[in-house]
Amino acid sequence: MDKALVVYSSKYGHTKKYAQWLAEELDADICNGKELNSNVLINYSTILFGNSLYAGKNEAALLIVKHFEQLKDKKLVLFTCGLADVYNETNINEINRALNKVLTTEIREKVRIFHVRGGIDYENLSIKHKIMMKMLHSQVLKKREDERTDEERELLATYGQKIDLSDRSMLAPIVDYCSKK
Ligand SMILES: Cc1cc2nc3c(=O)[nH]c(=O)nc-3n(C[C@H](O)[C@H](O)[C@H](O)COP(=O)(O)O)c2cc1C
Repeated sequence: MDKALVVYSSKYGHTKKYAQWLAEELDADICNGKELNSNVLINYSTILFGNSLYAGKNEAALLIVKHFEQLKDKKLVLFTCGLADVYNETNINEINRALNKVLTTEIREKVRIFHVRGGIDYENLSIKHKIMMKMLHSQVLKKREDERTDEERELLATYGQKIDLSDRSMLAPIVDYCSKK
């Protein structure tokens, strides 16, 4: 019964990579959220959800809401994976605000939340995502230089490129938390 499961939502693989690293570290099973069968949840005492960030969309967090009846007595972790600098308090507040729209107070009290950084490869984005990023880029360009946030400056500096900020060491606090009784 002392077994962990890592469930992830990931479009371009960064969140999946973190989920795989966690599965290795915790000797856990791993599952794509799209294929999650709620009947298996009973087999695990700890369940981790890896949630890629897409402009306020939180697919893995929604899975916690959907299956909370079966999850509420387990150790629960939700980690977000996005481009934003997770050492910047404004960014974390922004991510948490979006999560709060999905998670109930009861779930918030039960789930431990962590944040890691992924990456982006503009060439490989879907058409929809290319358009979304282009629109964001144009909006930021219209702002005066001194009005831009650090995040927006980084977007301008890296727009169109391939960047990967994935870092296995960012998982240490999650592994630590899951390893404690
Ligand atoms: C259209 C779009 C919207 C995004 N929105 C956010 C966001 O709101 N916050 C963030 O930190 N990263 C955002 N990102 C960056 C992704 O979260 C990042 O690329 C992440 O690594 C994707 O995970 P995946 O590779 O597992 O799909 C966005 C990326 C795209 C293409």
